Amino acid sequence: MSTDAIVLLKEDHKEMRRLFKAFQDAEEGPASQRQKLVGQIIEALTVHTYLENEVMYPEVRRLLPDLEDDILESYEEHHVADVLCAELAAMDAAHEHFNAKTTVLIENVTHHVEEEEEEWFPKVREALGRKQLQEIGEKMIALRADAPRTPSDPKAIKKAIDAVTA
Ligand SMILES: [Fe+2]
Ligand SMILES: [Fe+2]
Repeated sequence: MSTDAIVLLKEDHKEMRRLFKAFQDAEEGPASQRQKLVGQIIEALTVHTYLENEVMYPEVRRLLPDLEDDILESYEEHHVADVLCAELAAMDAAHEHFNAKTTVLIENVTHHVEEEEEEWFPKVREALGRKQLQEIGEKMIALRADAPRTPSDPKAIKKAIDAVTA
């Protein structure tokens, strides 16, 4: 298994796209199924944004100051996703806003993931050596077991606040 940070993050993105597609296919389906899928989306996003906010973003910011603006924009995009995830985690799938809110979350995250993969991950790949990317990846693997899985976890709340105020 690769420990390269970008490979690991792209694997997470792939899983998110799979869950997004599954929700879109279930949009007219039973509430229980939509609730379950959104629960999985929230968990995947909570873990992923935690690893990026705590490891990938600060490392890139430190090593590649030229990418500062991309990183700041990314923190703000995570913040939008955090707000929507927190609201959805408390919302019943039968609520009339449930699908609309999930659709906005999916659109925002899809845009954000495209920017990461197409705009600034390639610059990181070019500027950092294989060994540096593996070291960052190893830090993310180590932190993953301890990462929050729900938006109400104190670690997730702290991450959400630090991201836009620190
Ligand atoms: Fe991100
Ligand atoms: Fe990401």
